[in-house]
Amino acid sequence: MGQQHHDFPKTTVSQVILATLGGLFAPVLVIFLVVKLLLGIQANYLEDADPAPVAAAVEARIEPVGEVEVAAVETGPRVDKGGEEVVNGVCAACHASGAMGAPKIGDKAGWAPRIAQGYETLIKHAIEGIRMMPARGGNATLTDGEIANAVAYMANESGAKFTPPAPKAE
Ligand code: HEC
Repeated sequence: MGQQHHDFPKTTVSQVILATLGGLFAPVLVIFLVVKLLLGIQANYLEDADPAPVAAAVEARIEPVGEVEVAAVETGPRVDKGGEEVVNGVCAACHASGAMGAPKIGDKAGWAPRIAQGYETLIKHAIEGIRMMPARGGNATLTDGEIANAVAYMANESGAKFTPPAPKAE
C-alpha cells in the first residue's frame, strides 16, 4: 500500500503555484467581465438619466409636429387680407375717429394733400410710419401688400382712385 502511494508523482511547489494561479485567474476573469457588463448597463441608464439628452430626445420627438404647424401658420401660402378688413381691424383705431390727428376716413379735405403725394408715397409712409402714424399701423404682421390694400381702401373712401395691387400669395 505504502509502496503504491509513493509511485504517484510528488506535487512540486511550482505545480502548486500554477494550480493556484490557474484557479484564481478564471474567477478573476469572470468577475472582471461581470463588472464590465454592469458598468456598461449602468452607463446606458446614466445616459437616459442625464436631463440634457432626454430633453433633446423629447424635442426631437415633438419637433416634426411643431414644424408642420409653424409652416402652416407662418410660411404657408398666405393671401393678403383685403383693404377693408385691414382697415377695420387695425387702421380704424385711429383713422375712424381721427385720433392723434390721423386723417379721418371719408374726410376728403383732410386726405386731399396726402393723396396728392401719390399712392406709392402713402404706402411707404404707412409701412415706415410718419410722425404720429406708427409703422404698419402698429401691427408688424401686416404685409406690404396688406398695407397697400388698406391705404387704397382708406384713400379711395376719401376721394382717391388708387388701384390696390393684385392679390398674391407671399
Ligand atoms: C395709432 C394710430 C394709428 C393707426 C393704428 C394707424 N394710423 Fe395711419 N396715421 C396716424 C396718424 C396720427 C397720421 C397722421 C400722421 C401725420 O401726418 O402727422 C396717420 C397718417 C396715415 C397716412 C398718411 C401718411 C401721409 O404721408 O400723409 C396713411 C396713408 C396712413 N396713416 C395709413 C394707415 C394704415 C394703412 C393703417 C393701418 C394699417 C394706419 N394708418 C393705422 C395714426 C394711425
